[in-house]
Amino acid sequence: MGLSLPSFFAILFLLLGVNGEILAGDTSFDANYYVTWGNNNVLSLNGGAEIQLSMDKSSGAGFASKLSYGSGFFHLRIKLPDKDSAGVVTTFYLTSHTNNHDELDFEFLGNREGRPYTLQTNVFSNGEGNREQRIHLWFDPTADFHDYRILWNQHLIVFYVDDIPFRVFKNNTNIGVIYPTQAMRIEASLWDGDSWATDGGQTKTNWSAAPFKAHYQGFNIDDGCSSTATQGPSEQCYSSNFWWNQEKYWKLDSNQQKAYENVRTNFMTYDYCSDRPRFPNPPPECLQQ
Ligand SMILES: *[C@@H]1O[C@H](CO)[C@@H](O)[C@H](O)[C@H]1NC(C)=O
Ligand SMILES: *[C@@H]1O[C@H](CO)[C@@H](O)[C@H](O)[C@H]1NC(C)=O
Repeated sequence: MGLSLPSFFAILFLLLGVNGEILAGDTSFDANYYVTWGNNNVLSLNGGAEIQLSMDKSSGAGFASKLSYGSGFFHLRIKLPDKDSAGVVTTFYLTSHTNNHDELDFEFLGNREGRPYTLQTNVFSNGEGNREQRIHLWFDPTADFHDYRILWNQHLIVFYVDDIPFRVFKNNTNIGVIYPTQAMRIEASLWDGDSWATDGGQTKTNWSAAPFKAHYQGFNIDDGCSSTATQGPSEQCYSSNFWWNQEKYWKLDSNQQKAYENVRTNFMTYDYCSDRPRFPNPPPECLQQ
């Protein structure tokens, strides 16, 4: 019952990752991304498998995917700036760069040393945002890399920290809520947001702690449908040939739902849906989730 010699070698090559391909986790930054600003503040590490963005008084930095996508399951691995990071904003987001843009945001808001980071998320559709939610993380995001992910199909948008879904935005087109449909690029940046990011802008960036450094990994983009459509949806990206479009991903399963509720009960610090002074009448999607 032994393996034939050819299959033995096929398996060996798969294990070693030498089958003409680089292992997904080691995909080089240059394969799928490019620097968009702050070139002097970008450092490539481990042969491009890791990128360091830094922020000093002169500049932050940012990068973007070469392609745009019409659906997919997107991720980056990020280790946030440590120590005194008040005012410093580290981001990972999808954006369409159109006038009435669609955008799905992870924004990590730094804090004074010893105080927790806030992870703010937002959803823009057709130029309309104002959908901020904020959580505290249940681990130290400056100590290690963690996976931050966004699922986007025709029915559902889910934000994940590692495998934990903590925000859901449903397709509520039927009650008049515009759903993101425009092709979006993946972007990330490190910048000075001290006019708003920490304690509503009252806690400022401590420049004597500069440069601030964020590290990114995970530059493989295996699960995205590339598209250039900016007017209306990319229909070909809704095909069920893409696993993330299948019915299983139209809502959370019961285990995911439990994990989601746990985060919202224990780690949520702000939800636009329950901000009555700001929205005396909650936006329609808030009544549906
Ligand atoms: C959202 O749902 C509606 C039906 O309610 C459907 O017609 C539409 O194709 C869905 N997807 C998008 C991206 O709007
Ligand atoms: C700013 O950073 C310096 C050096 O890291 C530190 O000594 C100082 O206490 C910090 N200032 C504030 C206001 O936290």
